[in-house]
Amino acid sequence: MEKILITGAAGQLGTDLALYIQKRRPAARILLTDIRPEAPQDLADFRYQPLDVNDWPAFEQVLADFAPTEIYHLAALLSGTAEKNPELAWQLNVQTQKHLFDVCVQTLPGVKVFFPSSIAVFGPGAGKFARQQAYLDPTSMYGVTKVAGEQLGNYYHFKHGLDVRSLRFPGLISSKAMPGGGTTDYSVEIYHVAQQQDSYTCYLRDETPMPFLYMPDAMQAIEKLMAAPAPALTVRTSYNIHGFSATPKDFAASIAEAQGRPFELLSHPDFRQAIADSWPAELEDDAARKDWDWQPDFNLKAVTADMLVAVGEAKQTV
Ligand SMILES: NC(=O)c1ccc[n+]([C@@H]2O[C@H](COP(=O)([O-])OP(=O)(O)OC[C@H]3O[C@@H](n4cnc5c(N)ncnc54)[C@H](O)[C@@H]3O)[C@@H](O)[C@H]2O)c1
Repeated sequence: MEKILITGAAGQLGTDLALYIQKRRPAARILLTDIRPEAPQDLADFRYQPLDVNDWPAFEQVLADFAPTEIYHLAALLSGTAEKNPELAWQLNVQTQKHLFDVCVQTLPGVKVFFPSSIAVFGPGAGKFARQQAYLDPTSMYGVTKVAGEQLGNYYHFKHGLDVRSLRFPGLISSKAMPGGGTTDYSVEIYHVAQQQDSYTCYLRDETPMPFLYMPDAMQAIEKLMAAPAPALTVRTSYNIHGFSATPKDFAASIAEAQGRPFELLSHPDFRQAIADSWPAELEDDAARKDWDWQPDFNLKAVTADMLVAVGEAKQTV
């Protein structure tokens, strides 16, 4: 019996992942958990349990009661929020993750653990085209916690045989849940604003290039990585995966083209500009392509076409 536990399941990634796994693996038992008292509307059909993963006895109880065969550990503070609360970011993104790995080693033999890393692990040392083995000198607290998380995963794999698997996600674009305080949030917000207005004010300079990934591609990446035979995996820190690179101006232009009317991009940079400037514009993802056949389906044009329809439909049903 496959038993799948998702932490931080009410967030942007968790919402899509829960629905995707339910569709792709109907026989699996799924338990969703999140610090939020109730599941979001989209997840109303799932078994849901409120859980603050920083409450270690409560987390241990859930692991003991449910005895998952796969864990998707998504509970984390994202870049914007982590910068404002570095202590909580370290506690949640590093210490609780290490505790989870310890409990897995001690009580859940054979369990597979997925956790998402991020392009925030890169800093100026990686350059604008970040290779898999790039030097990691993050300039944000979020990036520091993700480097530590990756290294813990690698260590627990080689030291204790724990089957930890991870992806370095770029900015994730999804029509279902709004993003939770990251530096790439504009790439989702802009599609919502475009439903009602003919301009969008971005917190980044209009020519700031960053890598992005559309949620359906993130889902197929997680699925392929988790299904790959363990010996095929040559990376136990976290795999680079790349969808497409774009600037805020590129997003606005692609919306204008798709809608057939002008859509203006205004820019008022805030503290997130410095974070974005320290990140790469593009990722080299050869290891993912070679080890488990990674290949994205969506470029910016395809994302815009899909997002404008999906966000528009969601607004009509509210
Ligand atoms: N969204 C992106 O663009 C992106 C990119 C790279 C990596 N990631 C990673 O993916 C994971 C999920 O991110 P997301 O985009 O869904 O973020 P999100 O903020 O939308 O979701 C995170 C969820 O964790 C929950 N949470 C926070 N503190 C918790 C706690 N103490 N106990 C239990 N739950 C708690 C929140 O309520 C939220 O629902 C994170 O590890 C994030 O670093 C996301």
